[in-house]
Amino acid sequence: QPRLVIAVDGPSGSGKSSVCRAAATQLGAAYLDTGAMYRAATWYCLDQQVDLDDEDAVALAVEELPLTISTDPQHQTITVGQADISAEIREPRISEKVSEVATNRRARTLLVAAQRRIIDEAGFIVAEGRDITTVVAPDAQVRVLLTASAEARLRRRGAQLGGTQDAEALKRQVLERDKKDSTASNFTEAADGVAVLDSSDLTFEETVNSLIGRVEQAQ
Ligand code: C5P
Repeated sequence: QPRLVIAVDGPSGSGKSSVCRAAATQLGAAYLDTGAMYRAATWYCLDQQVDLDDEDAVALAVEELPLTISTDPQHQTITVGQADISAEIREPRISEKVSEVATNRRARTLLVAAQRRIIDEAGFIVAEGRDITTVVAPDAQVRVLLTASAEARLRRRGAQLGGTQDAEALKRQVLERDKKDSTASNFTEAADGVAVLDSSDLTFEETVNSLIGRVEQAQ
């Protein structure tokens, strides 16, 4: 197995997670969803009734967070202690609060260190998030910023939620989260050496193939 790290960043609704999971599956690589780790940290803070405005309390909670995350692209499970929270971390109550935890500097430092350990241990892995190409794994052999127009992202996020949501409310939520997130890391512009993959006019398969093509070039 090659030692090869594929780092992918992008905003929510860019299709990042499904694209990276599919690419990892086809490549036979491991997969790390770093957003799930920020979501799990948020779940834990809410579970422990930590005041999210209290920076020290949030950092302490993340320090003691008993987190396990699977790196199998086809079986994504994430647990905190004995609790399997794989489904719960996708709930709106988590999406609404996650940026508050993600902007906590100490929490980020801790989670970034955990992500580096997971990537190191896996060796051959597709890791995705907001700061993988720049902070977590800047020396990755493949570094890609996966983007999509605001329209494409809203369309996909709407479809993901079953099309039952009020379009205006959805737009507000997605753009609001982008704005909050962008204070923690810049994922809207590609850093030096990071390739932009714009999926706005690509099908899912085309996007996966484009990512795999870059990996094959690097191998
Ligand atoms: O990718 P996903 O939407 O699940 O990420 C959830 C949240 O986790 C993001 O909105 C962002 O606040 C945070 N995040 C981050 N850095 C990463 C991955 C996610 O700050 N590398």
